[in-house]
Amino acid sequence: MTSITLKNLRQWKLEGKKFASLTAYDYSFARLFAEQDIPVLLVGDSLGMTIQGHDSTVPVTVDDMVYHTRHVRQGAPNVLLLTDLPFMSYPTLEQAGHNAARVMQAGANMVKIEGGAWLAETIRHLTERAVPVCGHLGLTPQSVNIFGGYQVQGKTEEQAEQLLNDALTLEAAGMQLLVLECVPISLAKRITEALSIPVIGIGAGADTDGQILVMQDVIGITSGYVPKFAKNFLTETGSIALAVAQYQRQVQDGTFPELAHSFKG
Ligand code: KIV
Repeated sequence: MTSITLKNLRQWKLEGKKFASLTAYDYSFARLFAEQDIPVLLVGDSLGMTIQGHDSTVPVTVDDMVYHTRHVRQGAPNVLLLTDLPFMSYPTLEQAGHNAARVMQAGANMVKIEGGAWLAETIRHLTERAVPVCGHLGLTPQSVNIFGGYQVQGKTEEQAEQLLNDALTLEAAGMQLLVLECVPISLAKRITEALSIPVIGIGAGADTDGQILVMQDVIGITSGYVPKFAKNFLTETGSIALAVAQYQRQVQDGTFPELAHSFKG
């Protein structure tokens, strides 16, 4: 695989070419995903749940993200690699800059941060200092203690307007990619069309430019609860490599996600 950059993603958006991405936390899986030509990997702070067994992403530290980023990069030298800045690692501009530098030096190409228009200054600060930023709106798991659980966001017209305005504000501040999690299909479509940067959805319907899934959900490793937006591709393929290839194919041809994996407004 030749190195994937944000330029590729922007071009794919213009061409209407859908792309698939996955979370990755270690060398072996990162290598397998890269061998299947998955162009974008995320070292997600979901590792707090999938790798460390916590009930939220809140306990994850910057040290954890640096450790996993280093190993994912070893396995996938050419993917566009996003790394989450974890809970409370970007409350001030200084902390955001310091912690972004740590994950970038471990191998990330960009950082992902969760939240609305209040992050505009952080995004401007990081971007001006050569750190590209991916935003994350909708269900933002670091805010689980504010939300009181993991619920679909943007269901009322007022909330939908707020999310659209947040997305536009963050794009104007320099955000170069956006993850939209668990929002109604119609809102995800509206935001994807309103932004000129690529939008990656999870539980946001088929109209976003790209899709992302937590890797364990693609191969049926769950702890009992299976989110509505997840799909086990291993059952229909029989090998992890084929499951990943099938996920990518179905994203590209628009057959995943189906309505059953999505939320109506
Ligand atoms: O941490 C993560 O894995 C994520 C994805 C669910 C998008 O943020």
